[in-house]
Amino acid sequence: MPLVNAKEMLTKAKAGHYAVGQFNINNLEWTKAILLTAQEMNSPVILGVSEGAGKYMCGYKTVVGMVEGMLEGLNITVPVALHLDHGSYEGAKACIEAGFSSIMFDGSHYPIDENIEKTKELVAICEEKGLSIEAEVGSIGGEEDGVVGAGECADPNECKMIADLGVTMLAAGIGNIHGKYPANWAGLSFDTLAAVQEKTGTMPLVLHGGTGIPADMIKKAISLGVSKINVNTECQLAFQEATRKYIEAGKDLEGKGFDPRKLLADGVEAIKACVKEKIELFGSADKA
Ligand code: 13P
Repeated sequence: MPLVNAKEMLTKAKAGHYAVGQFNINNLEWTKAILLTAQEMNSPVILGVSEGAGKYMCGYKTVVGMVEGMLEGLNITVPVALHLDHGSYEGAKACIEAGFSSIMFDGSHYPIDENIEKTKELVAICEEKGLSIEAEVGSIGGEEDGVVGAGECADPNECKMIADLGVTMLAAGIGNIHGKYPANWAGLSFDTLAAVQEKTGTMPLVLHGGTGIPADMIKKAISLGVSKINVNTECQLAFQEATRKYIEAGKDLEGKGFDPRKLLADGVEAIKACVKEKIELFGSADKA
């Protein structure tokens, strides 16, 4: 199946009280692991690409070519959206041009008026070209690929203003952060989430910083309107741990264990296991 935008899968998720996972990709192995797992689980999936990862993978056109080739080469029939993660205004335009099916414009660091103005312009372009668009209000804490946020809770009225612009999905800060959560993390602010949900109605809400959020909080967030959950660091840690074990066990020194297809295989399996666990937790299995 060719790439699709994220509108239909998220509308269904919101109505069906489950969430679709956005898993960030870094290279061919990551992309293949996520696509194969989504297919095996019969789940829709969103491939997230940060601007830094896009640069690392030799630009957005290379990413589009790789993903489209894999959809065909691996016979992927579940719905797959290719989505820019935390895009700048320029990055969003470049991805639209390159053939992404979905973008995020993160204008959360601008004053609200400027966020509205730029989001509005991109909504019009996405509408014309059939892409889905995610906007953000209230920055997500922590650091991801150089994008740093303080982890503030979004103002529900501002969320309504952005939702009313016609975005497909809305990321609202609710005390979530990218990367590992510190031991003294206060948890998600469900009061903020409930207030945002009340103001934005059927709008699919997005929970960033999915790594390390306890299962009961994920389930509560889904019950309060979260329909898309982003996971990045957890797959990276799973890959790192499995690869470290492979090398520490000296397997790279045995036979052809140095062959990258062998050297990276355990890490790839670990990414698959991580994605599988999240798809089960988010409830999107068999929803393709
Ligand atoms: P984590 O790296 O914390 O899983 O966050 C991912 C994310 O929110 C991508 O936008």
